[in-house]
Amino acid sequence: MKAPKIVVEGLSKVFGPNPKTARDLLMSGATKDEMFAKTGYVLGVNKASFSVQEGEIFVLMGLSGSGKSTLIRLINRLVEPTAGKVVIDGRDIAAVKRSELVSLRRTDMSMVFQSFALMPQRTVLSNAAFGLEVAGVGRKEREQRALAVLEQVGLAAFAQKLPAELSGGMQQRVGLARALAVNPSLMIMDEAFSALDPLKRKEMQNVLLQLQKEQQRTIMFVSHDLEEALRIGTRIAIMEGGRIVQIGTPQEIISHPADEYVRAFFDGVDTSRYLTAGDLMQREAVPLVHALDPKSVAASLNGSADYAFVLDAQRRISGFVTRDAIGVAQPSVRKVECISLAAPLEQVVSRVCANVTALPVVDEEGRYCGSIDQAAVLKVITRNRSAHV
Ligand SMILES: Nc1ncnc2c1ncn2[C@@H]1O[C@H](COP(=O)(O)OP(=O)(O)OP(=O)(O)O)[C@@H](O)[C@H]1O
Ligand SMILES: [Mg+2]
Repeated sequence: MKAPKIVVEGLSKVFGPNPKTARDLLMSGATKDEMFAKTGYVLGVNKASFSVQEGEIFVLMGLSGSGKSTLIRLINRLVEPTAGKVVIDGRDIAAVKRSELVSLRRTDMSMVFQSFALMPQRTVLSNAAFGLEVAGVGRKEREQRALAVLEQVGLAAFAQKLPAELSGGMQQRVGLARALAVNPSLMIMDEAFSALDPLKRKEMQNVLLQLQKEQQRTIMFVSHDLEEALRIGTRIAIMEGGRIVQIGTPQEIISHPADEYVRAFFDGVDTSRYLTAGDLMQREAVPLVHALDPKSVAASLNGSADYAFVLDAQRRISGFVTRDAIGVAQPSVRKVECISLAAPLEQVVSRVCANVTALPVVDEEGRYCGSIDQAAVLKVITRNRSAHV
């Protein structure tokens, strides 16, 4: 496997006047509340450890004050850690010289914030080209590159306008274009879409996902919105009081929330929408028949099962046999439709409900992975209901 893009180990920040006291307080293991009550020092980030793979959108989520912004600032070293380390592309960031760090931030780690911070007197094009200008790229080249990214975010026609002539959502796209123009391998986005109305926000999420399809960057994305996190996150880290309380894929977090704090984010969110056939399937619910001779068929159906799936040598589904097949020399194999692992819940529901048997779930090569029956579908739908009454 490829080395991770970012490795964070025991990364911590205690805000307070004396760094030594801050370190001692951190070592004492006090919680954020305890530390603040006793000393007035603020535990911003408490021993965070994780790694981010290249090409991932890694979302940090948590309530206000949980430490999200501090954690990403520790990663690009806008904040000095009290303890712990950050390794980017195999390099310990603590060992990188200040000057080198500044240029690294300019060229390889772009940041996008909630406020657009566009320069009002400059055109959209000149704003989008600003990062390149700072990096010393000549006018012609930077305008060419800026125009190309404005095209990517759908704003090429507005290149000569001033920011004030654009809506908030469009201004935020200029901010995104400015970050993209330097072609960074790592993008850090802190509540980048939070100021936008829900529709604009979704539109920006789609722009980001589309860009990500074309060009796989590593993105650290801060959000306090679970739906945003579920939509765009490859993995999500959930923070509380400076600590990371859970890290997982959207499906892992929905299926196994670590505690009540995590579960509370689901309130009012239809989490089942984010589940796929792969999340719902059972692995051993339906017996399998690998050869159609009477002995194998009888052996597979020796329990209480009414039917068994028939697999070929490549584990592809040929169909299913019922108990009528027992003892028959050449049993008839009935057709069954397959569901792909990535099929969303909606599709799974309509197809499973139209069939009396469970349906097989298959991977991209058509190989059998598991099955989904009506009971499994009902369970996930009702679980979701009861969570929101
Ligand atoms: N420069 C600072 N000096 C002192 N305390 C700070 C500083 N920056 C952050 N903090 C404190 O650290 C904690 C974490 O703050 P941080 O800004 O990282 O939270 P956040 O999760 O980004 O919150 P929000 O969702 O409101 O942006 C808070 O208690 C905050 O008050
Ligand atoms: Mg913040």
